Amino acid sequence: MAFEDEQFERAWKSIVSLRRKRAIPPRFRGGFEKLLEVAPNLSHEVDLARAFCKEFQDRSGREINGIYFWSHYGTGKTGLAYAIVHETIAMISPKTGAYFDVCARRVPELLTAIKNEYGAGGDPKGFAEELQAYDLLILDDMTEVGSSHEANLLNEIVNFRHDHQMPVVVTSNRSLEELQAGMEKSNENASFSIISRLCDMVYTHEVKGHDIRKRKARDRING
Ligand SMILES: Nc1ncnc2c1ncn2[C@@H]1O[C@H](COP(=O)(O)OP(=O)(O)O)[C@@H](O)[C@H]1O
Ligand SMILES: [Mg+2]
Repeated sequence: MAFEDEQFERAWKSIVSLRRKRAIPPRFRGGFEKLLEVAPNLSHEVDLARAFCKEFQDRSGREINGIYFWSHYGTGKTGLAYAIVHETIAMISPKTGAYFDVCARRVPELLTAIKNEYGAGGDPKGFAEELQAYDLLILDDMTEVGSSHEANLLNEIVNFRHDHQMPVVVTSNRSLEELQAGMEKSNENASFSIISRLCDMVYTHEVKGHDIRKRKARDRING
């Protein structure tokens, strides 16, 4: 490798590692490899997620199906979501020649942040537009909404991504049917609108497996 190549490689690696550090919480920074070490049973899910990342890059982040990973607690859904961030944040768009912009947020925290910024009566469209600017939006833990207002905010975000044919990756502790049933209690219109669009935007996959956190605790106790 020529000297400039080595320098270029070093610079590239440090930029990528900085981007990952800023976007990914420490627990999830290991990507797919580390996830498979702690949860080897997730090889099919990792294949699905890797295929998504490849298609995301090939099609420059446009008009592709996202993924909806759902299951009970602790199976590795957030790990999968951040492994997708880990992968895609290092990718360069063949269309623009720039790094993809990837944003991962926990839905409850995101909705609280919007409420704090815009107030209960404020118009959240600006926020939805801000989220639209991301090539990929990860919505972690879309399990319930706390109020009719929160359902409207979430609807705004999903609606905007759907209109602009930009992908979302969602994790949830509920199937899409259960999610709709839960949200309907707060806001029937918004729940129908959200679920109908998600059905059009994502490939749904149930993550079957045990609770990794409980198993780790058992292993610790049993030495
Ligand atoms: N990429 C990863 N690297 C290391 N540990 C991970 C990774 N992904 C998940 N884990 C471990 O597995 C546990 C459960 O995974 P998590 O994704 O949080 O489950 P879920 O989102 O389904 O509740 C985490 O608390 C963490 O200890
Ligand atoms: Mg989670």
